[in-house]
Amino acid sequence: MEIVVSGIRSTGNLHLGNYFGAVVNYLKMQHDYQCFFFIADYHSLTTHPTPRNLHDNVKQILSEYLACGIDPEIATVFLQSDVPEVTELYLLLNMNAYVGELTRTTTFKEKVRQQPDNVNAGLLTYPVLMAADIIIHKATKVPVGKDQEQNLEMTRRFARRFNTMYKVDYFPEPSAFNFGHQLIKIPGLDGSGKMGKSEGNALYLTDKPEVIRKKVMRAVTDSGPVKENQEMSEPVKNLFTIMEVVSSPDTVNHFRDLYNRCEIRYGDLKKQLAEDIITFTTPIREKVHEIYGDNDYLSKVVRTGAEKARESASKTIREVREIIGFKPF
Ligand code: TRP
Repeated sequence: MEIVVSGIRSTGNLHLGNYFGAVVNYLKMQHDYQCFFFIADYHSLTTHPTPRNLHDNVKQILSEYLACGIDPEIATVFLQSDVPEVTELYLLLNMNAYVGELTRTTTFKEKVRQQPDNVNAGLLTYPVLMAADIIIHKATKVPVGKDQEQNLEMTRRFARRFNTMYKVDYFPEPSAFNFGHQLIKIPGLDGSGKMGKSEGNALYLTDKPEVIRKKVMRAVTDSGPVKENQEMSEPVKNLFTIMEVVSSPDTVNHFRDLYNRCEIRYGDLKKQLAEDIITFTTPIREKVHEIYGDNDYLSKVVRTGAEKARESASKTIREVREIIGFKPF
């Protein structure tokens, strides 16, 4: 079975955009591939979270993914920092990674702009750690968004370089998991662009009902259609796009008809949309709280996950050390 590795950022709660853009695909993938899903907590150190936030963030995001339906009995779910073999491979790969190529990476240059006072070596070697995450399990597929394509290209390059340097055919070159048209892009509530944390327009899975109502009621619309079957403006189209994923087809059709007949009242549409979002998110939100409060369960999940991940990782490290030329006396 093909092997999939995906690293999950440990900061930022899940919003509807993440859910329909990525999480639903993880849910499908876990049945079709041998999946390794981990929380990239080492990577988060490149932006220096405080010791208190680090653990809470990891716990929160882990609870959210599990609440969405990532099944630790099927997929291997673990924390990056629980698998020391990854750091060993990272060190070894660093010897064959060149400062020039690392400084030229777009994500690095972006970080330099974002945090000019904290241009640490971890940021520079971020793609090396990411490559180690992936190739340590000899993954061939990595479900990543556009913003990670260059990092994945670096992973392929490091894998290829290792094979060439040591004249082996050891690491496969992983490719991006491409969902193509299946990916549903959820727009924001501000009338343009996609939903995102940094855009400040997101509906989080853990938002309380009153917060969701407030956000939806404030969503941008327009002054209403003036002729029948008028083409929708971007902000209104966006509300329908969200409605299509959370509401029943009858509801969507009902409001489409009202729109086409110029009888729509956006207030009614928003009220319905808010309630349907709440219906969709409430079971997940409740599950997040339940899992977050169940430390025994979380502890068991990460322990079992680490065990499985280390089994795969230590085999690779043993072979890599041998290939490089380490020998026991
Ligand atoms: N860089 C990825 C992101 O920002 C997270 C990540 C770390 C990752 N290691 C990975 C993703 C390995 C896929 C595979 O989203």
